[in-house]
Amino acid sequence: MNVALNIQRCNPETDSDPHWQEYVLSVEPGMVVLSALHEIHDHQDGTLAYRYACRGAICGSCAMRINGTARLACKTQIKEIADDGDTITVEPLLNEPVIKDLVVDQGPFFAEVRKAMPWLVEKGKREPDQPLDYGADMSKQELDQWERSAYCIKCQACFSGCPKRLEDPSFIGPEACVDIYKHTYDPREAKREERLARAGEKGGVFDCDKHGVCVKVCPKDIRPMRAITFLQRRIEKGKKQ
Ligand code: FES
Repeated sequence: MNVALNIQRCNPETDSDPHWQEYVLSVEPGMVVLSALHEIHDHQDGTLAYRYACRGAICGSCAMRINGTARLACKTQIKEIADDGDTITVEPLLNEPVIKDLVVDQGPFFAEVRKAMPWLVEKGKREPDQPLDYGADMSKQELDQWERSAYCIKCQACFSGCPKRLEDPSFIGPEACVDIYKHTYDPREAKREERLARAGEKGGVFDCDKHGVCVKVCPKDIRPMRAITFLQRRIEKGKKQ
């Protein structure tokens, strides 16, 4: 079958505004959007810019908007989103400046991730041969969400899709909330209270408007809104004590 990819192009060094460019190609069985971009780049237009690395839905670098929704290009089967003769739109992620075509500046996203301190600050000292103490003060529900959080590949689909972040850039975004959640609920973590205080500040979890787009677009089923709700409840409970 044949499909057209209508791709948003922009080179900020030469273009004042983005424009659309259409490429028609024949789709092979199992072809994903990333393979289609390779086909275009290698055989039709070598100036097309896009980002990828692993091709296996692991590195998170190929996220882009496909038919209006943030998705991983290496995981999106063309046959699942288009029939013969259809047109697929491909655009860069929202909420980050475009460097060129489908490549965005990931700086704003990683700035929020850094603020969330996405690393474990372990309690006390441990001998090298002493195993980590996983503790037991997590409910099954919390543990389930904590485990999910660890699967995040930082692809930025949730950050790009978040209508709240679009409206208010002071909101840290769903992924940073997931990072805060992961370490706040980790029984080994020494700075749980500090992390909770950060989550409760302006721009933190209480600024989420619960649009739920982050849950729909996450390619790893992390469910950021659930993590946000857990944090909100935990902070409210702390205030009552
Ligand atoms: S290329 Fe790594 S997630 Fe798609």
